[in-house]
Amino acid sequence: MIEERRPKYAASKAKISGFEFDKNTLELGYVAVDADHRNKGLSVCIAARLVAEQNDKLFATTSDEFMKKTLARVGFRKRGDDWKGRKGILSLWYKPAMKTKSPD
Ligand SMILES: CC(C)(COP(=O)(O)OP(=O)(O)OC[C@H]1O[C@@H](n2cnc3c(N)ncnc32)[C@H](O)[C@@H]1OP(=O)(O)O)[C@@H](O)C(=O)NCCC(=O)NCCS
Repeated sequence: MIEERRPKYAASKAKISGFEFDKNTLELGYVAVDADHRNKGLSVCIAARLVAEQNDKLFATTSDEFMKKTLARVGFRKRGDDWKGRKGILSLWYKPAMKTKSPD
């Protein structure tokens, strides 16, 4: 899901990672696939759909190695430095706004 705008939260992630981005950036939040249906490309489908619907810059944080692959597949890049969170080593992922094609 795309989280509601949380400027303070976004700013805290920019600070902890050392990667500066607009604090009004929306977050691609927690993605979960039922254990019986994992490794079939579903999280890539879900994330790609959310990214396409949003059509704007987004950020995400995760400690999950499979989720990192998913984020990379849909246009996010790892930015800044990792940090230690409650659930492990977290990293910041950022996807710039897609360029809209100008009419010819
Ligand atoms: C993370 C999660 C959402 C991935 O969902 P998924 O539908 O199984 O993932 P996909 O099938 O779309 O695969 C995404 C990538 O991970 C890889 N992957 C997924 N499961 C894998 C497994 N068991 N072994 C090896 N690779 C695996 C896929 O090959 C793919 O990589 P690729 O792009 O290089 O091919 C799922 O594992 C999950 O729900 N985990 C628990 C919740 C969680 O931690 N969510 C992330 C919080 S931000």
